[in-house]
Amino acid sequence: MNQVPLHVIILAAGMGSRMRSSVPKVLHCLAAKTLLEHVVDASMALDPDCIHVVVGHGKEQVIAGMAEHSAKSRLKFIEQVEQLGTADAVKTAMPNVPENTNVLILTADVPLIKSSTLSDVVAQLRAHSLCLLTTEMDDPTGLGRIIRTSDGSLEGIVEERDATPGQRKITEINSGIMAARAARLSEWLPLIQSNNAQQEFYLTDIVGLANTLGDPITGISVADCNEVKGVNTRVQLAELERLWQRARAEQLMLQGVTFADPSRVDFRGTVTIGQDSYVDVNVVFEGDCDIGGIVSIGANSVIKNSSIGSGSIVHEHSVLDHTQLGNDVSVGPFARLRPGTKLGNGVRIGNFVETKNAVFADGAKANHLSYVGDASVGSNTNIGAGVITCNYDGANKFHTEIGENVFVGSDSQLVAPVTIGDGATIGAGSTITSDVKPRQLAISRARQRGIDEWQRPVKKKK
Ligand code: UD1
Ligand code: MG
Repeated sequence: MNQVPLHVIILAAGMGSRMRSSVPKVLHCLAAKTLLEHVVDASMALDPDCIHVVVGHGKEQVIAGMAEHSAKSRLKFIEQVEQLGTADAVKTAMPNVPENTNVLILTADVPLIKSSTLSDVVAQLRAHSLCLLTTEMDDPTGLGRIIRTSDGSLEGIVEERDATPGQRKITEINSGIMAARAARLSEWLPLIQSNNAQQEFYLTDIVGLANTLGDPITGISVADCNEVKGVNTRVQLAELERLWQRARAEQLMLQGVTFADPSRVDFRGTVTIGQDSYVDVNVVFEGDCDIGGIVSIGANSVIKNSSIGSGSIVHEHSVLDHTQLGNDVSVGPFARLRPGTKLGNGVRIGNFVETKNAVFADGAKANHLSYVGDASVGSNTNIGAGVITCNYDGANKFHTEIGENVFVGSDSQLVAPVTIGDGATIGAGSTITSDVKPRQLAISRARQRGIDEWQRPVKKKK
């Protein structure tokens, strides 16, 4: 059977006034991704021909906010000049929807909807003109209630403001998500009127109309009502954020990752974590992270756009930003690895060490209080406590090249550009301004003097 092409319409023209924000509601973020992006991504999995986003309030901001996404997602923005209701919003988009297609209607403020649920809704159009997605909610306040006949078939939807006290007791609600055959939808929409409590054109009226016109319609109910929960306030946004985070943590736990507390970890991007890894409390993953197996990440660490090889340990309070760690690496506590840091296998970076654009070969170490920037460090080299690569003269940056098996004594400064040969030793407290040959000892500190019986100054009596 030939697949009927799919067009998606996402309603995003409303004000979202209950967010109390100068940013349009659909641009607020959940797990570091806008609400609208969540909905676009969920519908992308159904491979639609086009996604029409109906914009109105804050339309310039919404279009600009989606710029990166638009190119890859076949997004088309349509302006609804006046927000006359959900039916009017859909009507605005319909001239761009070809007749022999299926239409999936979504609202931009329902971010947890799953692609599989959307597929189930669209699949109903093989035998029906319209399919609604409904769910049971313990507290249906504010939502449209589903009216069914005594034999269980769909009769209509009544908005809370228009409902009788009896109808308000109904707990099956309209998610706002539905699918319809385009040709039928185009026929129903102009028949909708605005004689209701809000004087708006309600999309929900198509249920009654389709029934009157004898169209076969159906509804499917999603078991997990969280999937169709909407965001109207920042309180609801926070609630959905936690649900999303919990679900992600659970997926990873089922793949073999242990969390000290799955409710105290945050994923703000895409992360993969290998089996038998352990994540302590308050760890934040941002951007694209790829964490190997048997990795341990200490409390309060932030891992951004980084990869960590298997068997590595990131001790607590460490920050990794655009870094690549090999296997069996040890970092922190309190380490800051900045962009361009690449650590080979078995490298050790200890407390209060900052690295930037620094490549450490296998087995190299900087265990305490160092700054290593714009540098390469050879294998098995040891950088002592308090060593600084002086990479910046106030205008330009320079490179420091440190060979293999080098020993850099504590509290030394390596003034770049400078090269330290393999096997060289730098005496503690040296300021190195010129290249050091392989296996040389370089020492530049002043000689120690001893003055016997030294009398320390004493305070004068007043
Ligand atoms: C709507 C449904 C209700 C359902 C609920 C689920 C209607 C009449 N009611 O109510 O049955 O339970 O969603 O969340 O459809 N929008 C536009 N243009 C407009 C009006 C709205 O684009 O002129 C957009 C809004 O930005 C929003 C969506 O449509 O994304 C829903 O509109 P909203 O006013 O929030 O409807 P609800 O009262 O939530
Ligand atoms: Mg709403």
